[in-house]
Amino acid sequence: MQSTTSIDPAAAAAVNPLGSGEGALLPALRVEGLGVRYGALVALEGVSWEVFPGELLGIIGPNGAGKSSCYDAVTAMVRRSGRVSLQTRDITAVPPYGLAALGVKRAFQQNAFFDDLSVLDNFVAVLGEHAYAGLAASVLNPLAAARRRNGAKALAAGQLERFGVPAAYHAQSPKEIPYGVQRMLSIALAYGRGADVLLLDEPAAGLGGEDMAALVRLLAELKREGVALVVIEHHMELIMAVADRICVLDLGKQLAYGTPAEIQRDPRVREAYLGKPQ
Ligand SMILES: Nc1ncnc2c1ncn2[C@@H]1O[C@H](COP(=O)(O)OP(=O)(O)OP(=O)(O)O)[C@@H](O)[C@H]1O
Ligand SMILES: [Mg+2]
Repeated sequence: MQSTTSIDPAAAAAVNPLGSGEGALLPALRVEGLGVRYGALVALEGVSWEVFPGELLGIIGPNGAGKSSCYDAVTAMVRRSGRVSLQTRDITAVPPYGLAALGVKRAFQQNAFFDDLSVLDNFVAVLGEHAYAGLAASVLNPLAAARRRNGAKALAAGQLERFGVPAAYHAQSPKEIPYGVQRMLSIALAYGRGADVLLLDEPAAGLGGEDMAALVRLLAELKREGVALVVIEHHMELIMAVADRICVLDLGKQLAYGTPAEIQRDPRVREAYLGKPQ
């Protein structure tokens, strides 16, 4: 397990002010009996969890445990068994491109940007068809087209600042900006115009103290807005501080599911991480 002293307890408490999402009536997202196979390899089997609006669910487990495969399953990027529901709606059959429109957004483990576009234009690109008017409309009504373009750029600039990507970097290529800012950019791009459920895959990987603090602040802000957050992390101090509940995966199976305190006490979890019961 990774360990550091960079987590400010007060900032972490702000991420988890209620301690539980049980006050909310319906889970934002629920997965039941999720399974994924790659040929003969069972990457995921019988995984079930739920996350409420304004709650943070942590997903932890050793390398190869099936954490990213779990996101692939939720977002219909692989053939899988089980059921995925958004509040009361069964969305198991919804394809990946339909999920974003329903407010389910995902940031990937590896950063993926358009390196030939500026940081700002990367965000404008995810805003989609509303950002640019298209050639015909630009010729017929150039003023309206310019207004629309400027509106998209202003929205992009505001969102990027909010996600910890300062204006000084907006004109640069994503590959030129510091790694910590790239991680924040990838979260901003996933969030886009907004999200009800945001799936983050190791957002803290490689982050130093200041970037980690910025991430904790952002998670707190998104939770206050009612976003249901699911966060895969190896950074134990971070996840134990910010999660309301944690799902532990090991060799594709759900080893444990509970509050951070319950997970820390669980002998099966300690064995999976440390190789023997503690
Ligand atoms: N496309 C694929 N084809 C075949 N096997 C795969 C594929 N993707 C993942 N796997 C395998 O499935 C298992 C789970 O992988 P997964 O990437 O979900 O693990 P993870 O928990 O995200 O690991 P890490 O912490 O290293 O990111 C691993 O054994 C991996 O090698
Ligand atoms: Mg992974």
